[in-house]
Amino acid sequence: MTRRAVVKGVGHYLPERIVPNSEFEKTLDTSDEWIRSRSGIERRHFAAEGETTSAMATNAARAALQDAGLEADDIDAIVLATSTADLTFPSAATMVQAELGMTKGFAFDVQAVCAGFVFALSNAAALIASQQANRVLVIGAETFSRIMDWSDRGTCVLFGDGAGALILEGQDGTGTAQDRGILSTDLNSDGRYRDLLYVDGGVSTHSTGYLRMQGNQVFRHAVEKLASTAETAMQRAGVETDEVDWIVPHQANIRIIQGTAKKMGVPMEKVVVTVQDHGNTSAASIPLALSVGKARGQIKQGDLIVTEAIGGGLAWGAVVLRW
Ligand code: COA
Repeated sequence: MTRRAVVKGVGHYLPERIVPNSEFEKTLDTSDEWIRSRSGIERRHFAAEGETTSAMATNAARAALQDAGLEADDIDAIVLATSTADLTFPSAATMVQAELGMTKGFAFDVQAVCAGFVFALSNAAALIASQQANRVLVIGAETFSRIMDWSDRGTCVLFGDGAGALILEGQDGTGTAQDRGILSTDLNSDGRYRDLLYVDGGVSTHSTGYLRMQGNQVFRHAVEKLASTAETAMQRAGVETDEVDWIVPHQANIRIIQGTAKKMGVPMEKVVVTVQDHGNTSAASIPLALSVGKARGQIKQGDLIVTEAIGGGLAWGAVVLRW
C-alpha cells in the first residue's frame, strides 16, 4: 500500500487589470509583434496598487476549497510557493492561514522562483506520504510586477501576476502508475548559474531590487533541463510518453514550451498553454494552468499529467501525477 497525494480541488485568481502588449509600445522600443513572436505572450494581469501576494493566494485558496467542497479547518498544512511574499517575514502562507480563518495546522513558504510550485508539490506529497499532514493546500502566488525594471524591455514585457491553488489529500493507492495522485517527483538546482536570472537586491543587501535576466542563456538551459527532468520523473513513475494525457509546463515562453514538448516527443495538442493570457507568473503559472485547463474541459479525472518548470537558481524539476 502506498500513501498517495490526490488532487481534491483546484482554483485560481487573476488580478482585474489586463495589460496588452500594446501598452509597452508607449514607453519602450518594442512592439506587440516582437513580444508575441519571441515569447507567445499577448497580455498579462497586473496586481492593483496595494493588492498583495497573500491576498491573491487567499482568493485562489478559497476557489480551490470550494472546488473540493471543503472548509479551511479541513486543511492540515499550507505550502505556498512564492518569491514575492508581502513581507520579509512572516511567510505569506501564515497570512493566508489567518485570512482563511484556519486555527490549526501549519503553514510555510517555499522559494524556488519559477520552479517553486514543483518544489511545493514535492514537499506536500512528502508531508502526506510521511503522514505529517493529510490535507495540504498547495499555492503558487506572485506579484512579479513589483520587481520589474520598467526600462528593461528584455524582462518587463515577459512577466505577470496571479495565483493558483491545489488541495491534495492522502489516499491509499496500490503503488502502481494506475493510482490517482502524485506518482513521482524530480527536483534539481545548480547555483553556479545564479547570474542568469536573479533579483539584484534583498534583505541583507538593504534593498528590494529588480529582476535581471540573460534571457538567451536561460533559454538554452531550459529546453534541455526540462525535457531531462520530465524524463527522469516519468521513469520514476514507470510511465511511457505515449501514456501521458497532458503536459502542464511552466508558462514562461511558447518557444520553450514547444521545444520541450518536441524533445519529449509529445504533440502540442497534449500541452496546456496559457502563456498568451498570463505571461510568466513564476510559481503561480502551473497551478493557474491546471485550473484553467480543468475549466476548459482539457484536464479530467484519471488523466496522466506531467508538469515541469525551471527558474532562477537555476532550479528545475518535474512532477508526474494522475488527476
Ligand atoms: N522588444 C524588442 N526588442 C527586444 C526586446 C523587446 N521587448 N527585448 C529584447 N530585445 C532585443 C534585444 O535587445 C536584442 O537586440 P540587439 O540584438 O540589438 O542587442 C534582440 O532583441 C535579441 O535579444 P535576445 O535576448 O537574443 O532575444 P531572444 O530571441 O533570445 O528573445 C527572450 C529574448 C527574453 C524572449 C528569450 O531569450 C527568452 O524567452 N528567454 C527565456 C526567458 C525566460 O523564459 N525566463 C524565465 C524562465 S523562468
